[in-house]
Amino acid sequence: HGNDVIDIRTLGAKTGLFTYDSGFLSTASCKSTITFIDGDKGELLYRGYPIEQLAEKCNFLEVAYLLKNGELPNAAQKGEFETTIKNHTMLHDQMTKFYSGFRRDAHPMAVMVGVVGALSAFYHEAMDFSDAAHRNISINRLIAKLPTIVAMAYKYNMGQPFMYPRNDLDYTANFMHMMFGTPCETYEPNPVLVRALDVIFTLHADHEQNASTSTVRLAGSSGANPFACISAGIACLWGPAHGGANEACLNMLEEIGDVSRVGEYIKRAKDKNDSFKLMGFGHRVYKNFDPRAKLMGKVCADVLGELGLENDRLFKLAKELERIALEDEYFVEKKLYPNVDFYSGIVQKALGIPTSMFTCIFALARTVGWITQWEEMITDPEYKIGRPRQLYIGAARRTVPDLAQRP
Ligand code: ACO
Repeated sequence: HGNDVIDIRTLGAKTGLFTYDSGFLSTASCKSTITFIDGDKGELLYRGYPIEQLAEKCNFLEVAYLLKNGELPNAAQKGEFETTIKNHTMLHDQMTKFYSGFRRDAHPMAVMVGVVGALSAFYHEAMDFSDAAHRNISINRLIAKLPTIVAMAYKYNMGQPFMYPRNDLDYTANFMHMMFGTPCETYEPNPVLVRALDVIFTLHADHEQNASTSTVRLAGSSGANPFACISAGIACLWGPAHGGANEACLNMLEEIGDVSRVGEYIKRAKDKNDSFKLMGFGHRVYKNFDPRAKLMGKVCADVLGELGLENDRLFKLAKELERIALEDEYFVEKKLYPNVDFYSGIVQKALGIPTSMFTCIFALARTVGWITQWEEMITDPEYKIGRPRQLYIGAARRTVPDLAQRP
């Protein structure tokens, strides 16, 4: 090593093979039966079912059941699951004290990292995850309580009273009630908007071994509390290169401001001396249309139509940007297509969700994928603690000098 030669015998001592793969570009970290992506075709399957069919025929709780159990529920199983989830929507009253410990203007993702992690202090049996019944109740608690936790983070930010869950409403309608309802009047959710948000949840429910899911698996591989593992996933999702991209895309559209300036920004995105990238374009795995982007574009049109905002400035701008980029040689050659984040900011904004909450919505939905992946890992007979190796490029062995001799 002193001569810049690395002795690989010490690195791959057991297997004789050692790979360095920064960013895990071509290394599988696990076997999985949950989600399949064909990046060249632009295909996404949950448990073998195309995302397009799930978004059309199922609601989010059915998709959650599918991810969790491997099969779609029949009518009786669906009803039973809905009831179980409704039984767990409340938070322990002591949890409200966690919220009041945060600054009023704390970022809601910071609040969520803390509050979801704190659930591990309330449900001690979650640590007994060799027992299937205990795993099951932890998973149900997470699916049920995340909407309550997200809505409470929002209400706390707004300085409004927390809204109790309403069990006469379905999962997503109840979430909208807790977000937008007030004690002064009964909130009447608009079914078109509820359905749109429900599809958004489905589109974000899982996406195989992305950064936050890998974080949950790695944290869980040591045998950590599952609620704490989900908190780790939320922390990872928070980053702008992951869950924060829809916010960046909305900001970019605002900055472009007008259809007449689209050409100028496309030119900038192609300029190697300019750090600007077209937000909501490109993906590590998809080298074709992100199928979620197509569905999101449709959801966006439905929501804007329902709200009479068909001529929304940002929507028109986004469509024009997409049209021009898809015809541009640079984007075609590099296989850069719109990703799920391209339209999601516009639609969430139209639903009345503030920008700072976008990633919380993502976390709410992805919790289903995270905890399903956690359970798959923890019940895998081949399961081992995750322990990546490294390529050491630091100082060679040397002697500690006495304090007086140090420069
Ligand atoms: N605008 C302009 N050029 C781009 C863009 C873009 N949005 N994305 C990639 N490129 C170019 C790169 O400059 C690179 O060019 P080069 O080959 O001349 O060096 C080439 O396309 C390949 O791009 P990489 O960044 O190497 O691809 P990678 O797989 O590492 O990155 C990523 C994918 C991070 C998503 C990237 O496309 C990007 O930054 N997009 C914008 C941010 C975004 O929308 N992120 C959301 C992703 S979806 C999600 O996380 C839920």
